[in-house]
Amino acid sequence: MLTFSGMDYADPKKKNGVVGKILLAAGLTALCILMLKQSTSFNTPSPFSRHEVGVTHVLVTGGAGYIGSHAALRLLKDNHRVTIVDNLSRGNLGAVKVLQGLFPEHGRLQFIYADLGDPQAVNKIFSENAFDAVIHFAAVAYVGESTLDPLKYYHNITSNTLGIMEAMATHNVNTLIYSSTCATYGEPEKMPITEVTPQVPINPYGKAKKMAEDIILDFHKNSHMAVMILRYFNVIGSDQGKGWEMKHQARITCLIHGKDIAVCMLFDAARGITDGLKIVVTKCGGGVEKMCNWSKRAGRSVKEFVEACKKATGANIKVDYLPRRPGDYAEVYSDPSKILRELNWAAKYTDLEKSLQVAWRWQKAHRNGYGSSPASI
Ligand SMILES: NC(=O)c1ccc[n+]([C@@H]2O[C@H](COP(=O)([O-])OP(=O)(O)OC[C@H]3O[C@@H](n4cnc5c(N)ncnc54)[C@H](O)[C@@H]3O)[C@@H](O)[C@H]2O)c1
Repeated sequence: MLTFSGMDYADPKKKNGVVGKILLAAGLTALCILMLKQSTSFNTPSPFSRHEVGVTHVLVTGGAGYIGSHAALRLLKDNHRVTIVDNLSRGNLGAVKVLQGLFPEHGRLQFIYADLGDPQAVNKIFSENAFDAVIHFAAVAYVGESTLDPLKYYHNITSNTLGIMEAMATHNVNTLIYSSTCATYGEPEKMPITEVTPQVPINPYGKAKKMAEDIILDFHKNSHMAVMILRYFNVIGSDQGKGWEMKHQARITCLIHGKDIAVCMLFDAARGITDGLKIVVTKCGGGVEKMCNWSKRAGRSVKEFVEACKKATGANIKVDYLPRRPGDYAEVYSDPSKILRELNWAAKYTDLEKSLQVAWRWQKAHRNGYGSSPASI
C-alpha cells in the first residue's frame, strides 16, 4: 500500500520514475484532448463558413450603426444568419450586444471587428465566411464633415464600396443591397424628387455615394450580381421591441436593379419599410427591373420639425436661425406615388410627432446611449 509518508521516504530513483510516468501520462492525456478538440472543430466547421440550404447568410456592414443594427435585428427575426462587420468608428458595440442577447443561439449572429478600408481584412472575411448576400451600410455620413474632409469620404464610401464589390466578385457573392442617400440628387430644379430626377450631388458625401452607385451599376450590367440601391431621405425613431426600441423610417427612396434577387432581403429601419421591401424584392425576383420612391408625402419644413420636437419632448426648445452650411440643401423630399401604385406599399409610421416621441423615449431611457441601458447587456 502506498501512503503519503511512504512516498516521502521512498527511494529517490523510484520516486522520480513514478512522477515522470504520471507527468508523461498527464501530458499525453492533455495532447489527446487537444487533438480531439481540434479534430472535432475540423469535422464541424463554423456554421458561418458554409452555405446551408434554407438559410440565408447576410453580411451586414456597419451593423453596429443606427440603420444597420435595425436591419440586422429584422434579418435575425426573419431567421437569417447574420455577420456584422464594423470598425466601431461611429457605431456602438452596445447595439451588437443587444442583438447577441436577443439571438444567442449558435450560428445566428457573429460580429467581426474590422475596417473595410483594409483589403486584406476584407478578403479574409470573405474567404472564411460563406455569404449569400451583402447589405452595405458602413459609411461616414455627415454632409458638413464631408466638405471639410472630402478625401475621408471618397475613401470611406467610394473606395471601400469598390473593395466590397471586388471581394464579392472574387468570392462569388451575387446579391447586394447598397445604402445610398438623397444627397446624390443635390438640389433638383423640381420637387418632389422621383427616380428619374437627375443626380447632381453638391457635396463630397453625395458625390462619393453617387460614384459608389455608378461602380455598382456598371458592374451589375455585365455580371450576375443582383443589386438594389436604396436612397434614404431621413431616418428617425427606433424599434419599440422588448428591451430595445427600434428606429423607424420617415422617408425613403429606392432604386432597384434586380437581375435575380433570389434572396428575400429585408431592410428594417422600420417595420413598415420592411413590409414594403418584401413586396419589392418579391416583384423584382425573376429579372424585373424597378425604380421606386419610398415616402409618404412631401417633406416637412425645419420650422415644422422644431415645433414637433417641442411637442414630443414637452421642452421649450430655444431656436437660433442660422444661414445654411456649405453643402446643405434648401429642400429635399420625394414622391412615393410609384411604389404605392405599383407595389401597393405605403409607410405605416408617418406621424412626425409620434416618431419623435419614440426617439425621445429612447433617449430618455438611455441617457448615455447603450451604456446606461439595462438592455445594453
Ligand atoms: N441615417 C440616415 O438618415 C441616412 C440617410 C441617408 C443615407 N444613410 C446611409 O445609411 C447608411 C447607414 O447610416 P447610419 O445612419 O446607420 O450611420 P451610422 O454612422 O449609425 O452607421 C454607420 C456604421 O458604419 C461603420 N463604419 C464606418 N466606416 C467603416 C469602415 N471603414 N469599416 C467598418 N465599419 C465602418 C460605423 O462604425 C457605423 O457603425 C450609411 O451608408 C448612410 O450613408 C443614412
